[in-house]
Amino acid sequence: MNKQRKLIIAGNWKMNKTVAESLALVRGLKIELANIKEVDIVICPPFTALSEVSKAVIDSNIRLGAQNMSENGYGAFTGEIAGGMLKEFSCRYVILGHSERRQFQKESDELISKKAQAAHANSLKPIVCVGETLAEREGNKTEQVLETQVKGSLAGLTKEQMVETVVAYEPVWAIGTGKTATTAQAQEAHAFIRKQLVGLFDENVAKRVRIQYGGSVKPANARELMEQPDVDGALVGGASLDARSFCVFIKNSI
Ligand code: 13P
Repeated sequence: MNKQRKLIIAGNWKMNKTVAESLALVRGLKIELANIKEVDIVICPPFTALSEVSKAVIDSNIRLGAQNMSENGYGAFTGEIAGGMLKEFSCRYVILGHSERRQFQKESDELISKKAQAAHANSLKPIVCVGETLAEREGNKTEQVLETQVKGSLAGLTKEQMVETVVAYEPVWAIGTGKTATTAQAQEAHAFIRKQLVGLFDENVAKRVRIQYGGSVKPANARELMEQPDVDGALVGGASLDARSFCVFIKNSI
């Protein structure tokens, strides 16, 4: 598939996998994905598996990401993880503002923007998540919600940092529900997000930012989603927990 931007497909393992299970999954991925050059492949295991997984993916085409980080540097922040700590495990990416954290940890756009700035200060590329709930979509508030989240969560980033930031559009109603957005719904939301990036940054930045789709993606819907002009990859939940489904998803995307 000839895309304007290189696809980036990331597996968000969420709160799943022991260290042993993580290593078994990585072994499968390394074998199956060794020849893939067309896609940036990222896996985001839980913090507890980062150390072992980072050793397992050395010399492979699989890059490592974390699922969250603190907006602060090192210091008295019990239970938090600093960006510098993620760098120790060769993390290159960090998922920020996932809807589960927005919902359960009450993360605000303002906090997410601070985390995104802290990520860049540590040379980590943030994957910033946005997306509307079912009630918001049904109330015709999708664009308003996306506009607010994009503006708030990406506030304070320079143009150079924005180009190195990934945006993930994850409609909350599609996460873990088996209900994928239609390709038309995904394309419409992605184009809208890109339009916001033109206003907040400029045309050139907007053209270069990769926007992932997330929400019940599976091997069967990979191709039609990736064919949409403004869909530049995927953030995969459930289907990334199994080597076969993640690998087939990636292969079906190209
Ligand atoms: P599912 O693919 O399990 O719906 O999860 C999507 C998601 O939240 C990825 O971050």
